[in-house]
Amino acid sequence: LALPALLSERGLSSRDAGLATELSYGTVRALGTLDDIIGQCSSRPVADLDRPVLDILRLGTYQLLRTRIPSHAGVYASVELARTTGNERAAGLVNAVLRKVARRDWYAWIAAISAERGPLARLAAQYAHPEWIAAAFADALSAGPEDAELELALAADDARPQTHLVARPGAISRTELLALAGPNATAGPYSPYAVRLGGGDPGALEPIRTGRAGVQDEGSQLCAIALANVDTGGRDERWLDLCAGPGGKAALLAALAAGRGAHLRANELREHRAALVRQATARWNVEVTVGDGVAVEPIAGGYDRIIVDAPCTGLGALRRRPEARWRRDPSDLAELTDLQLRLLGHAVTLLRPGGVVAYVTCSPHRAETGGVVERLTEAGQVDLIDARPYFPGVDKLDQTPTVQLWPHRQGTDAMFCALLRRR
Ligand SMILES: C[S@@+](CC[C@H](N)C(=O)[O-])C[C@H]1O[C@@H](n2cnc3c(N)ncnc32)[C@H](O)[C@@H]1O
Repeated sequence: LALPALLSERGLSSRDAGLATELSYGTVRALGTLDDIIGQCSSRPVADLDRPVLDILRLGTYQLLRTRIPSHAGVYASVELARTTGNERAAGLVNAVLRKVARRDWYAWIAAISAERGPLARLAAQYAHPEWIAAAFADALSAGPEDAELELALAADDARPQTHLVARPGAISRTELLALAGPNATAGPYSPYAVRLGGGDPGALEPIRTGRAGVQDEGSQLCAIALANVDTGGRDERWLDLCAGPGGKAALLAALAAGRGAHLRANELREHRAALVRQATARWNVEVTVGDGVAVEPIAGGYDRIIVDAPCTGLGALRRRPEARWRRDPSDLAELTDLQLRLLGHAVTLLRPGGVVAYVTCSPHRAETGGVVERLTEAGQVDLIDARPYFPGVDKLDQTPTVQLWPHRQGTDAMFCALLRRR
């Protein structure tokens, strides 16, 4: 969020702005691996370094190991930057550390920092993931550290993603959106409403500014579409999105509901996120409410379809937020999975018999995907439906009734979806 403002404030040429973007995004994405390398080259522990000096070392290490900028230029620029910190010893320290960094290339450093920690640590370091996240991916893929698919998954998660758009049905056709989205845009391979951008700023497109279309990962679209299409055998009028902010799925569901004469209520805990839901769904007749999903009151006859797109670690969308992987902590999981189970359990009580809830997370971590579903189904109020027929044309799905999408398989975020029918 800070970078675009800084770039325009400093008035950089587009070439320099491109380099600044590559250096800053690249550096935050690789942060943990860069710190491990710096730790091997500095006589002081990384945690004891002055923060501005550490940031200069991180940028410098990234330049030396991950760009084609000549080493002497990378060291020189970093030392000059260090002189501006007001710390007299900074320039000498930066010079000494970066000269040591420059003695090896990226791959030699990856081997060096993970030599004693095993193959999973090596893969994690190479694709700049914390090891616990690499382990969670391995577990979700039933893959060992030597498995080629794990490497593909981590590599895809470390690559810059395409921006996906959704043409909200009834408001704009995909054909029209494609025509406006530039010559390199393509139709998404799975969702009938998806467009994958070839570059450019989506905010500059009229349909995005007016809400006829939105920026939405194709995997997210597929989960909303699956809920809309699953067979509920009966009345189909009352839909609920229990955790709706910022409203991407709610807008798609509202458009689909409107096409069928159904009505959507979109609930969200936080007022500022509910405001985003109101904005996203403004062109449809959606009831937006603010409050804890667990306290949403039942309605007469029950809801026909509910989506619980629960708060989660977001491990499935790390590629879209370069720094997020280093901010998450495995200790976040216990609290999140309890909340997920409470929200999902409450949603079940709000359904009519035969009604269906879609439990969705943007994560492949088993604790918050299959783990929550297993805990819920133990109570015996719901049946797990085979979700795969409601993801038509989506290839490379696992042989399980729940659906786990992946960047390296479908080019979507790693969305999880389970469909559960109330008995
Ligand atoms: C994964 S996001 C939902 C994304 C949304 N479905 C979309 O497609 O744009 C989860 C949302 O749940 C909200 N939330 C967190 N705790 C909640 C609770 N107890 N009840 C309802 N919503 C909650 C968060 O504020 C967040 O906006």
